[in-house]
Amino acid sequence: MRRAIYPGSFDPLTNGHLDVIARAARLFDEVVVAVARNSQKSGTFAPARRVELIETAIRDAGLPETIRATHFEGLLVDFARDNNAVAIVRGLRAVSDFEFEFQMALMNRKLQPKVETIFLMPHDEYIYLSSRLVKEIASYGGEIADFVPACVAEALAGLRD
Ligand code: PNS
Repeated sequence: MRRAIYPGSFDPLTNGHLDVIARAARLFDEVVVAVARNSQKSGTFAPARRVELIETAIRDAGLPETIRATHFEGLLVDFARDNNAVAIVRGLRAVSDFEFEFQMALMNRKLQPKVETIFLMPHDEYIYLSSRLVKEIASYGGEIADFVPACVAEALAGLRD
């Protein structure tokens, strides 16, 4: 039983995240998509709402039932250990992501040597996508249907009402 944690802010989930989830699900017996707190970011959606959106998007996309979503407080490595995970999955879009990801992966390895971080590249059509840009476009009433699952587009539209 090889379980992976896919942690992130997911505020909100994008099609790029969904693509990484699908890839991870092909590699591991179980994938836990884990909404975590990033101390550098203020949240738009509450963690429980982000989890709901992830669950709906996974179901709507017909992804395997070996994927589940949750949120947690505290250190990622503690969550990974408590869930007997063998790996932390992170998506890598571009060189600009690398420095932060490298630093985080090495720090997590120092804190918990038994958990390996692996990087998956999303499909290249999602390389330029980010939750921050999608939120900005949505806030001005721009078209985001190509970037996020339908449930997320609806939730973002709801923020403008
Ligand atoms: O989607 P993000 O914002 O790039 O994800 C970053 C996240 C949430 C995975 C990272 O901030 C995190 O692991 N937070 C949990 C607290 C923690 O373990 N921090 C130490 C990281 S070395």
